[in-house]
Amino acid sequence: MLLQINNLSVEVSGKPILKNIHLEIEKGEIAVLFGPNGSGKTTLIKSIMGFSGYEASSGEIIFNGNKLNGLSTEQRVKLGIGLMYQHPPKIRGVKLKQVADFLSSDKDKISAFSNRLSLNQHLNRDINMDFSGGEMKRSELFQILLQNPELLLLDEPESGVDLENIAIMGDVLKDFLHQKGKSALVITHTGYILDYIKAKKGCVMIEGSLWCVGNPKEMFESIRKEGYEKCKECHEPQRVE
Ligand SMILES: Nc1ncnc2c1ncn2[C@@H]1O[C@H](COP(=O)(O)OP(=O)(O)OP(=O)(O)O)[C@@H](O)[C@H]1O
Ligand SMILES: [Mg+2]
Repeated sequence: MLLQINNLSVEVSGKPILKNIHLEIEKGEIAVLFGPNGSGKTTLIKSIMGFSGYEASSGEIIFNGNKLNGLSTEQRVKLGIGLMYQHPPKIRGVKLKQVADFLSSDKDKISAFSNRLSLNQHLNRDINMDFSGGEMKRSELFQILLQNPELLLLDEPESGVDLENIAIMGDVLKDFLHQKGKSALVITHTGYILDYIKAKKGCVMIEGSLWCVGNPKEMFESIRKEGYEKCKECHEPQRVE
């Protein structure tokens, strides 16, 4: 087991957001998280990353045998967790190339990913400053691939990206995840990314609890037809194993 979340509850600014989450991701497994806006998906990711204000109020998060509760974000990143932000920060004064060089000493790898993701013109620009929505997502993918984490947390990787660039990003991501046997937790509303990655299980976050568990593509079709309310009818909140 790579990631094991047991009975995790998280309060943000005094408000309960996540309630008794149980989620397991095996080594080499890709899991997909669906759920309506504001249901707590990004909060779960922030809590796994250890962002301040998103600490567990109860429960535990275990990664590769290490209990993460109480560890800093930096320590978690060093253990092998990477995040592709839903809304990446803009960083004035830090060039994309500087971060790329910090993340990897392999110049060939940097230029190969930069070429595939059409980022050569962006390397000498401040990170995300005036990047278009799609450029920001390509830059996020570029950085997480260079970071080379064991677990990738991908928060809406394809949102706001045009179809041609989704295909490019999807192919790059597919090669990376599948060739190297990486694990990932992927949040998607559009489902496009599912055409590229071999996701084994999906689950739905509703009002801070995980509900349905199943085949991600089938679940996506069912959500498309019946909406999220239907998910609540099938099951009680449950353990995702
Ligand atoms: N720092 C905060 N202060 C107050 N409320 C917060 C904070 N962070 C998150 N929330 C609230 O927690 C709830 C869950 O937010 P979250 O970002 O996890 O949703 P989400 O499922 O990722 O939604 P979306 O699909 O729109 O990205 C929302 O109601 C949000 O406003
Ligand atoms: Mg979100």
